[in-house]
Amino acid sequence: MNNINWDTLGFDAYRTRSIILSHYKDGEWSPIETTEDFSFTFDPFAQVFHYAISCFEGLKAFRQKDGRVALFRPEQNAARLQRTAKYLGMPSPSQEMFLQMCETCVKNNLEFLPPYGHGASMYLRPLLVGMHPQMQLVPYPEAIFAVMCAPVGPYYGEHLRSFSAVIPGDYDRAAPKGSGSYKIGANYASTFKPYKIAHEQGYSELLYLNSSTRQFVDEFGSSNFFAIKGNKYITPLSDSVLPSITNKTLQEVAADLGMEVEKRPVPVEELAEFDEAGGCGTAVVITPMSHIDIKPVLEAPEVSRVFRFRPDGEVGPACTRLYRQITGIQFGELDDPHGWCHIIKK
Ligand SMILES: Cc1ncc(COP(=O)(O)O)c(C=O)c1O
Repeated sequence: MNNINWDTLGFDAYRTRSIILSHYKDGEWSPIETTEDFSFTFDPFAQVFHYAISCFEGLKAFRQKDGRVALFRPEQNAARLQRTAKYLGMPSPSQEMFLQMCETCVKNNLEFLPPYGHGASMYLRPLLVGMHPQMQLVPYPEAIFAVMCAPVGPYYGEHLRSFSAVIPGDYDRAAPKGSGSYKIGANYASTFKPYKIAHEQGYSELLYLNSSTRQFVDEFGSSNFFAIKGNKYITPLSDSVLPSITNKTLQEVAADLGMEVEKRPVPVEELAEFDEAGGCGTAVVITPMSHIDIKPVLEAPEVSRVFRFRPDGEVGPACTRLYRQITGIQFGELDDPHGWCHIIKK
């Protein structure tokens, strides 16, 4: 047995027992392999290094209250990876292969799956990278598909507490008809520098606006944006945000709880009218924001506007309810009427 402290886990890379692999070459996937060797061998000319031909997924496995092990909506991740791979001109695993490799990964690393009762889970990271050595800017059907995992706790270090975000006036995340809605590594590369600056200033998150007019809210660097106004759950409709599975789930949860759901463009000015606002995603679950500042120049001290939703650290009633509902379903404490939990071990 390992001696992991399940209560102090953050959200970090982790060396578990094994990773699950397959290699696409000459028109087919190689037999699925489980390996304890955590190193890949790549040609230095491989597409991934030069042209960022790389995409991934993120989903969680939960040890439920009755001891069963569940993956949360994995077929949605399989479909999203296929959509992303197509965008990059890469081969992608079938849904069946994706599910099989995720299940094998959890089962082979069971000792790293946090037990029920600590609010912790196992994060699975399916990764698809372009292997072909080349200089030309053309797709080539050769890739490695690997599924790895890590035991994780809260993304920002604490469950259900509010954090702050900044809208950087001088950074964009995604071009209007670009890659923003795909889960490709390159979308994240451009967030590293503004994240560093924002973190140094005490902000936990970056909130990006639509880059063409900068009049509407797009999403956070790591999650979708949602807000609460009265009895409404509001989330941006935009071509350049990642179609979040958590957000899709929360829209159904909110409707089940009797809330009205609006998916539509969200003008920046409307931030002033929201009772609560936050980020949602597999990693962050629901992360309420205490306030969101606008900074015309991220590195400069000037803050041009502050939208305050809650006192620092405090969480509003709707975020609390939504958080309890989604995590209750994931941990098997509440009914799962939509069949979102994919049970892989009884
Ligand atoms: C940029 C971005 N938006 C949104 C999300 C949320 O997507 P999901 O709920 O499918 O995890 C993520 C990943 O967690 C993300 O990286």
